[in-house]
Amino acid sequence: METTLLIFKPDAVKRRLLGRIIQRLEDRGFKIRGLKMTQISKELAERHYGAHKDKPFYPGLIQYITSSPVVICAVAGPRAVEVCRKMMGATFGWKAESGTIRGDFGISNSFNLIHGSDSTDSAKHELGLFFEDGELQDYDMPDDAWVFDPAEDK
Ligand code: RTP
Ligand code: MG
Repeated sequence: METTLLIFKPDAVKRRLLGRIIQRLEDRGFKIRGLKMTQISKELAERHYGAHKDKPFYPGLIQYITSSPVVICAVAGPRAVEVCRKMMGATFGWKAESGTIRGDFGISNSFNLIHGSDSTDSAKHELGLFFEDGELQDYDMPDDAWVFDPAEDK
């Protein structure tokens, strides 16, 4: 089982898409371990997107992600990092496949609705940036045994 960090970006909130995005994650069998609305500070945005510091789009990216409230979501399930990235689609809405979140709800390069950790290492790092120790919930679902067969991992 993995836990990944998703951010429903300002456009997802402002366009009233939170419910539909979360519904897709639940439909897939993922379990939400943490969910909170916050407005990201400039300092936190710079830590989170530090890898892009020298890119031409960086100032606009920081401005956008800090411009209004976002929803931070920790999602758990088998191969959560990879599957959530697939469900998000390619970075630019116009390039993202139909059937993905970005491909179904967006068309923009920068206003692309959702962030997802791109590796298990970055998931661990980003969960630490956005959630305090002990803040993530750990609980069973009644259908856990039907969503994932533990024998698959053997
Ligand atoms: P994210 O980190 O937000 O999950 O997105 P990603 O992995 O698909 O894309 P990444 O390359 O990490 O880029 C981070 C965010 O920067 C904005 N961006 N704008 N205008 C542009 O050329 C451009 N390129 C990237 C997007 O908001 C992207 O999500
Ligand atoms: Mg990225």
